[in-house]
Amino acid sequence: MALSIAVDGPVGAGKSTAARELARRLGILHLDTGAMYRAVGLAALEAGVNLDDMRAIERVNESTDVSVTFEDGTQRTWLNGRDVSGVVRTPLASMAASMVSTVGGVRAVMVKRQRAIACQMGAVLDGRDIGTRVLPDAQFKFYLTASPEIRAKRRMDELRAKGDMQPFERVLTDVIERDLRDSTREIDPLRPASDAIIIDTSDMTLDEEVERMMEIMGPNVYYE
Ligand code: DC
Repeated sequence: MALSIAVDGPVGAGKSTAARELARRLGILHLDTGAMYRAVGLAALEAGVNLDDMRAIERVNESTDVSVTFEDGTQRTWLNGRDVSGVVRTPLASMAASMVSTVGGVRAVMVKRQRAIACQMGAVLDGRDIGTRVLPDAQFKFYLTASPEIRAKRRMDELRAKGDMQPFERVLTDVIERDLRDSTREIDPLRPASDAIIIDTSDMTLDEEVERMMEIMGPNVYYE
C-alpha cells in the first residue's frame, strides 16, 4: 500500500508548509486539499450565488470540474481547465471555501478525488477531514494546532508578504469565524481522528514541526 499521511488542523496551524516539507523529505506527493475547496468557493463567487444557499452551491458544484496536477512536486489547482492556484489564496476565496465545504455534494466529490490521488501514489494530504474521512486507514495521522492568536499572526504575515495589509483584529475575527464553521458543520467537521497524534505548534518552528513528525514516524517509514 502506498504511504499515506494525514495532516489535519485549523487554519494557520502550519499544516500546509509542514505537509509540503514532509512530502519533500519522503519523496512523495503533497496534496493540499483546501485548495480544491477554494476552487469550488471561487466557482460559487464567480457564479454570483448566495453562499448561504446550499442548493445553489450544489448546482454550481455539478457544473464545476476541479482537478490538480503536480509539476516537480508543486501542486497546480484547476477550475474548469483554468489554473486558479494563485487566485484561490485571497481572503474572500478562503471564506467562500469554508462556506461551500459545508455542502454534502461538494464534500462527496472532493473526498472521492482526494482518495483516488492518495491511492495511486503515496502522498501527504493536508486538510480538515483527512484522518477522519478521506484516509481513515492512513499509516500516520497528525493533527496540528496552535492558539487562535498565533494562527492569526501567521496568517496576517502570510497576507502581508503578498501585499495584503489586513489589520490583526480583522484576521483574528476571520480565523475564529472559519474555525467555528469548520468545526461545527454537520458533515465531517474539523476534529482530530481518535488515533491522530496532536501537535501544538504554537512554540515551534517549521523545522521543529517536521522533525517531530519524522521522529514519530520513526526510521522505518516505507512506501512503494
Ligand atoms: O486549508 P485551507 O485554509 O486552504 O482550507 C480552506 C477551507 O476548505 C477551510 O475553511 C475548510 C475547507 N476544507 C475542508 O472542509 N476539508 C478539507 N479537507 C480541506 C479544507
